[in-house]
Amino acid sequence: MRQPFVAGNWKMNGSKQSISALLAGIKGAMASISKTQVVVCPPAIYIPEVEALCADSAVKYGAQDVSFEQAGAFTGEISVSMLKDFHCEYAIVGHSERRSIHGESDELVAKKFATARAAGITPILCVGESLQERESGTTEEVVARQLNAVIDLHGVDALQDSVIAYEPVWAIGTGKTASPEQAQEVHAFIRKMIAEKSAETAEKVQILYGGSVKADNAEQLFSMSDIDGGLIGGASLQVEDFMAICRAGDVSVK
Ligand code: PGA
Repeated sequence: MRQPFVAGNWKMNGSKQSISALLAGIKGAMASISKTQVVVCPPAIYIPEVEALCADSAVKYGAQDVSFEQAGAFTGEISVSMLKDFHCEYAIVGHSERRSIHGESDELVAKKFATARAAGITPILCVGESLQERESGTTEEVVARQLNAVIDLHGVDALQDSVIAYEPVWAIGTGKTASPEQAQEVHAFIRKMIAEKSAETAEKVQILYGGSVKADNAEQLFSMSDIDGGLIGGASLQVEDFMAICRAGDVSVK
């Protein structure tokens, strides 16, 4: 059985004040969630704040990125041991905004994935195709390449202690959600690809959908057989919307 999982990616949004209000709202509504693992990923500078605010709740937190190096002359980077210092349990790696704006390659993402795992931080590995790639019929090829960068380097079993997020780039922040069928098709492809190497890992790994998930489409998306929850951007900044999405997770246990 795979536990439903909903993570909020706050991206570069928020302030001390707004984060405190947002988390108070989330914590206040956690009683209505029974099965879904709820995670928030604040901007790194607010992680200490979030650690304190989450101390007495079931809400977990993660980083939006992490360095593949351990320490040293890497200006602006944050290491796994720094995240561990603040009991961070998750780190998003390979978000499409990091890949496209910051030029992160499949190889770099695979290194970040391994560094996080080795430190006991669960990587949330993002994969997904651009609009151009979808229109040219290369969605599966792109997703397979991104996933194989990790599998080839670290073996398929590395995915057992990780979460995968399928996020079609054309659906992120655009209001254009993939239809449940479109998303399911790619999720099933990912699971099949993993199953060809390890049936056990394929059965265990949580595969989230991300890209304009909203309160009114979450339940339909999460009810698909290979969708185990979501990675939520915009809608994770509003308590009601985010918690409605988390409740949709509860009805989607597979
Ligand atoms: P969105 O972002 O929900 O705002 O589309 C999702 C993401 O980038 O993880």
